[in-house]
Amino acid sequence: MGKAKSMFSLLLLLFLEIVSVRAQGATTEFVFRGFRGNQTEIQLEGDSTIKPNGLLRLTDRNSNVAGTAFYQNPVRLLDTKRNSTKATVRSFSTSFVFVIIPSSSSNGGFGFTFTLSPTPNRTGAESAQYLGLLNKSNDGNQSNHVFAVEFDTVQGFKDKDGTNRIGNHIGLNFNSLNSKIQEPVVYYNNDGQKEEFQLGSGEPIQVFLDYDGPTKTLNLTVYPTRLGSKPRTPLISRQIPYLLEIVKEEMFVGFTAATGKDQSSAHYVMGWSFSSGGKNPIAETLDVSELPLPPPNTAKKRGYNGKVIALIVALSTVISIMFVLLLIFMIHKKRLQQEEILEDWEIDHPHRFQYKDLYSATDGFKENRIVGTGGFGTVFRGKISSSSSDQIAVKKITPNSMQGVREFVAEIESLGKLSHKNLVNLRGWCKHKNDLLLIYDYIPNGSLDSLLYSKPRQSGAVLSWNARFQIAKGIASGLLYLHEEWEQIVVHRDVKPSNVLIDDDMNPRLGDFGLARLHERGSQTHTTVVVGTIGYMAPELTRNGNASSASDVFAFGVLLLEIVSGRKPTDSGTFFLADWVMELETSGEILSAVDPRLGSGYDGEEARLALAVGLLCCHQKVEFRPPMRMVLRYLNRDEDVPKIDDNWGYSDSSRSNLGSKFGGYVSSDRASSSYASSSLTRISSASVISGR
Ligand SMILES: *[C@@H]1O[C@H](CO)[C@@H](O)[C@H](O)[C@H]1NC(C)=O
Ligand SMILES: *[C@@H]1O[C@H](CO)[C@@H](O)[C@H](O)[C@H]1NC(C)=O
Ligand SMILES: *[C@@H]1O[C@H](CO)[C@@H](O)[C@H](O)[C@H]1NC(C)=O
Ligand SMILES: *[C@@H]1O[C@H](CO)[C@@H](O)[C@H](O)[C@H]1NC(C)=O
Ligand SMILES: *[C@@H]1O[C@H](CO)[C@@H](O)[C@H](O)[C@H]1NC(C)=O
Ligand SMILES: *[C@@H]1O[C@H](CO)[C@@H](O)[C@H](O)[C@H]1NC(C)=O
Repeated sequence: MGKAKSMFSLLLLLFLEIVSVRAQGATTEFVFRGFRGNQTEIQLEGDSTIKPNGLLRLTDRNSNVAGTAFYQNPVRLLDTKRNSTKATVRSFSTSFVFVIIPSSSSNGGFGFTFTLSPTPNRTGAESAQYLGLLNKSNDGNQSNHVFAVEFDTVQGFKDKDGTNRIGNHIGLNFNSLNSKIQEPVVYYNNDGQKEEFQLGSGEPIQVFLDYDGPTKTLNLTVYPTRLGSKPRTPLISRQIPYLLEIVKEEMFVGFTAATGKDQSSAHYVMGWSFSSGGKNPIAETLDVSELPLPPPNTAKKRGYNGKVIALIVALSTVISIMFVLLLIFMIHKKRLQQEEILEDWEIDHPHRFQYKDLYSATDGFKENRIVGTGGFGTVFRGKISSSSSDQIAVKKITPNSMQGVREFVAEIESLGKLSHKNLVNLRGWCKHKNDLLLIYDYIPNGSLDSLLYSKPRQSGAVLSWNARFQIAKGIASGLLYLHEEWEQIVVHRDVKPSNVLIDDDMNPRLGDFGLARLHERGSQTHTTVVVGTIGYMAPELTRNGNASSASDVFAFGVLLLEIVSGRKPTDSGTFFLADWVMELETSGEILSAVDPRLGSGYDGEEARLALAVGLLCCHQKVEFRPPMRMVLRYLNRDEDVPKIDDNWGYSDSSRSNLGSKFGGYVSSDRASSSYASSSLTRISSASVISGR
C-alpha cells in the first residue's frame, strides 16, 4: 500500500515536472499576412479597425484620436531558472510592414509604437504625443511596465524637460515617452552609408526587431520595402538590460498609435509576424507581394513650412531629374510600354482575389492539385472555404507579355457577371508577378473531350446518344447566351470539346470564353495574331483574323459533327470531318457518319437533324451560317432545317490556299497565324494538324 502511494506521488512529481517544463517552454509564433478574418486574434480598441481588404488601420486622420491593436493571447517573456530567483528576458523576434499616410506632406503626426504591455489595451492613454500608450499622469511611472519602440513623425516636439526632440525618428521607450535611445530614420546601404528616408512618405516600410535574451541585445532594422532586401547592418544594435525591470512573466504584444490636433496621419499595418521562446526565435519574413495592397497615398502635397529656398532647390532638382527621365522615357518608350507595371487600376476591380488566398486554397499550387494542363495554362483544384462543396478551379496563365492584361481584366470584370447554366462560372482573377490567375467553379466530371475519347478507350463506356444530344443543345444555349442574350456580344473564340466541361447532371458548361483574346494581344506590334484550334477555325478567321459570332457558329458546327460521329475534325491532313459528312450527305448515306460505337443505340431522326445542323453551321460563307438562336430552334424542332446549297464546301484551290496561309507559332493544341503582312513562316501540314 505504502509502496503504491509513494510510486503515485513520484509519478505525480514527474508529471508536474513535465508540466512546468512545458510551461517554461511555451512559445508563441504567428504570422498575419494581412488581417482579414483575424478579428478574434487581434484585440482592437479606440480608433483601430481591420479594413475589408485586410489592412489593420490603427488610426485614421481625424484629430486627437488614438487606437491600439494587440495580439489576443499573452506572450511568455520571462524565464526563471528553477534553483535561482534570477529571471531573464526571453529572446523574441518580430517583423511588420507599415504605411503612414499623412494629411498633407508637411502635416503628418503623431506616430505609432510597437509595444510590450501588461494589458491587451491601453486604458486611459491619450492621443498626440502620448501615442495612445500612456497619459500625462502616468508617463514615466515605473509601475507602467511598458516597453515601446516609437515611430514618431512630428518635428520639433519639445519634451517636458525642454529638450528638443528630432522629427522623423525612432525611439526606445521604457515606461515613458521620453525615449532612452533615439535615432533618426535611416538605413545602411551596401556600402555602409546612411540613407535617410521618411516614415510618413506613404510607402510601405518594413521593420525587423530582434531581442537576444542571453546577450540582452536588441537589434532594430527599418527600411522602405522598395529596397527589396533587408539591409545587413541594423539601425540600432544595443544592449538594453532595462528590459528586465519592465517585462512581467506574461506580456501582450501589439501596436498603439495616435494623431494630434493639427498634425494627423492614418497609420496602417499591412502584415505582422512574431516569434518568441525557443533558442533562437526568428519571426517569419513577410513578403510584401503576399500582403494586402497598401492604401493609396492621398496626402495633400502641401509643402510650405518656411523653408522656401530648400523647396525651390528640391523642386528644381526634381524637375531636372524628371527632364532626364522624360528623355530616357522617350528613348525607351516602346520598352516601357511593354513593361508597364499595372498596379493602381487593379484596386478598382472587385473580382480581384488575393494571391495568398489562392496560395492556401491550392495548398501552395502543389502538383497533386493539378487537374489539367491545356494550351492556355495549368489548372489547379482548390478549396476556398472550409465547406467541401465550395471547390474552385484556378487557372494559371503566363501571358506572352503583360501588355493587354489590363484590358483583359477589364473584360473579365464584365465577364464575371455572366451567369448561365451552360457556362463555367468565372469568379474572379488575380495578377501575381508574371502570372494571371483565373478562378472558376470546379466542375467534377471532366471535359467533353475525355468523355468522347479517353473514357471509352479506358473503360469502354461510350457516351449515350441521349447524353450527346442533350450536351449539344446545352452548348448551343450557352453560346446563344454569349452571343445574344447578354448585354454585350461575347465571342467565345475557342469552342471545342476540351473547353466544354460536364457537370454532375451531365449538363455541359462552356469554359474559357474570351481567353483567346488575351493571346491575340501582346507579342509584336503591327501583327494580328489569330488564336484558335486547328479544325475548328472558320475559313475567314485565317484570312482576315476577325473573330465573330459566325466563327463561333462554325466551330460549333464542327463540334456538333464531332459529337455525333465521335471523330476528330481532322487527322493526318487528308481527312476533314465536315467534308466527309458532306460527301455522305450527297451520296444519301448520312447516317453512316454516326459514331459506330453507338451500334443501333441512337435516334435516327435526331442524328439526321444534328448532322444537318452541323453541316449548315460549317458553311464556308459566313452569311449562310445560322445564328445560334436559329440553331437552337432547329435542334428543338421548332423550325425545319433549310436545304444546304451547292456552294457549301471549299473548292480544292481555296483549301490549299488556306494551308499556305498558316504561319507563326503553332503548339500541339493551338495554331496562331500572324499577319506581319510579308514574312509568313510556312509550316508543315503535319504540325498544323496535330489535334490530340
Ligand atoms: C488569420 O485568419 C485566417 C483566416 O481566418 C486564419 O487562417 C489564420 O490562421 C489567422 N492567423 C492567425 C495568426 O491567427
Ligand atoms: C543550481 O544550484 C546548484 C547548487 O546550488 C548549482 O551548483 C548549479 O550551478 C545551479 N544551477 C543553475 C543552472 O544555476
Ligand atoms: C483591458 O484589459 C484588461 C486585462 O485583459 C481587462 O481586464 C479590461 O477589461 C480591458 N479593458 C477594456 C476597456 O477592454
Ligand atoms: C492615466 O492612465 C492611468 C492608467 O491607465 C489611469 O488610471 C488614469 O486615470 C489616467 N489618467 C488620466 C488623467 O486620464
Ligand atoms: C505610479 O503609479 C502608481 C499606481 O498607479 C501610483 O500609486 C504612484 O503614485 C505613481 N507614482 C508616481 C511617481 O506618480
Ligand atoms: C545584432 O546585430 C549584430 C550586428 O549586426 C549582430 O552581430 C548580432 O548577431 C545581431 N543580434 C541579433 C539578436 O540579431
